[in-house]
Amino acid sequence: MRSAQALICLLLSGAASVAGQDCSTVAFDIPATSQNAVFTSPPNPNNETDVIQFMLAAFRGTPPPTSGTTAVSGTFTIMGTYCVPSNQTASKNVLQVLVHGITYGKDYWAGLGFADEFNWHLAANARGYATLAIDRLGHGENPQRPDPLAVVQPQMHVEVLHQLIAAVRTQSPLSPPSVLGRAYDKVVWVGHSYGSFLGSTIARQFPADADAMVLMGFSTTENFTDVLTAAWTAAAHHAPADGNLPTGYLTLASEAGRAAVFYAGEFDPALPPLDFAREDTITDGEGAAIPVLLEPAPGFTKPVFVATGAQDVFFCNFGSVAECETKLAKSRPDFFPDVSEANFGIFAPDKTGHDIHLHFSAPRTYAAVHDFLDAKL
Ligand SMILES: *[C@@H]1O[C@H](CO)[C@@H](O)[C@H](O)[C@H]1NC(C)=O
Ligand SMILES: *[C@@H]1O[C@H](CO)[C@@H](O)[C@H](O)[C@H]1NC(C)=O
Ligand SMILES: *[C@@H]1O[C@H](CO)[C@@H](O)[C@H](O)[C@H]1NC(C)=O
Repeated sequence: MRSAQALICLLLSGAASVAGQDCSTVAFDIPATSQNAVFTSPPNPNNETDVIQFMLAAFRGTPPPTSGTTAVSGTFTIMGTYCVPSNQTASKNVLQVLVHGITYGKDYWAGLGFADEFNWHLAANARGYATLAIDRLGHGENPQRPDPLAVVQPQMHVEVLHQLIAAVRTQSPLSPPSVLGRAYDKVVWVGHSYGSFLGSTIARQFPADADAMVLMGFSTTENFTDVLTAAWTAAAHHAPADGNLPTGYLTLASEAGRAAVFYAGEFDPALPPLDFAREDTITDGEGAAIPVLLEPAPGFTKPVFVATGAQDVFFCNFGSVAECETKLAKSRPDFFPDVSEANFGIFAPDKTGHDIHLHFSAPRTYAAVHDFLDAKL
């Protein structure tokens, strides 16, 4: 089925407007088929320890063995926050698709509602870019919580978001009304962490999808020690609201542990408690099938910008700015060998941890990313 035929509704219930932007809540109904990994020895779904160790194995460098792939299909509702610049004169015909990381939902991009200073939508809209932050399948406000191991895998995210990008680009008299009420000529993939690796995978598998990539909380020199040492728990055991979730939906068990991996350097100390109170999940399938995300994207030639905090525990590992810049630069030969030097940019703000724009350096990150996009698109 063509994705454009699958779009159904525009919900205005979440409509909100602040200076510089107009936001609404939207929902896409997306049919997708994915070749998902089949694991040789899946965990006992009733044994929390077993499920957690299974999710962590790929981070440890020993992904669970697979016996090939199998086709998994479904029609999934993907919720989004869609914001457009209120100044139509300054508005560009460019949509940024914002894809969150592990244990977050789309509210990551709205600074978790904490302060305008950490709101990516506001910063992008002020520069003339429309923004669509989506909840990845199985997360955020999405109504469905599919099987965490068999269905919610990275390849399924890639297929769903490939269909979503086709939908936001398409509007013809023959197709049903588009969810956004208009079509966009240009789409920029803006990822954070896991959302960045999904971006590099889209660049490899569907190079026509994005006109540019902004990959944050990202490098090809990773150190996942702190993922392994953090305390994980089944979300069902952690928050009453998640009580019915399958054990394969996992989350971080302690506020201090969460703050230590996502924040470093200079940030508002009131943010990590709020962040912990609102944390989302990772599924065991998202963790175990990570190898599909770690391949280079030869053939992708469009602009790529990598922005990662110098104190990012996973991707710059508390190095100096110069050490971090070396790692970010290395991601071009490692993952984007056909992106020219002129089409590649990096930014490594100091005193900044993994959740890059939730730190006080956010205005500099907004400026670096949008200066690059203005120059390249
Ligand atoms: C649960 O899984 C762990 C790790 O695989 C294992 O050591 C333990 O024996 C299992 N517990 C039960 C009750 O099966
Ligand atoms: C809207 O954008 C145009 C073009 O950038 C600018 O000249 C104008 O001052 C802006 N209007 C407001 C109200 O900000
Ligand atoms: C990886 O990170 C851990 C914790 O941040 C650190 O102790 C360790 O030295 C790092 N390993 C390497 C090879 O840099």
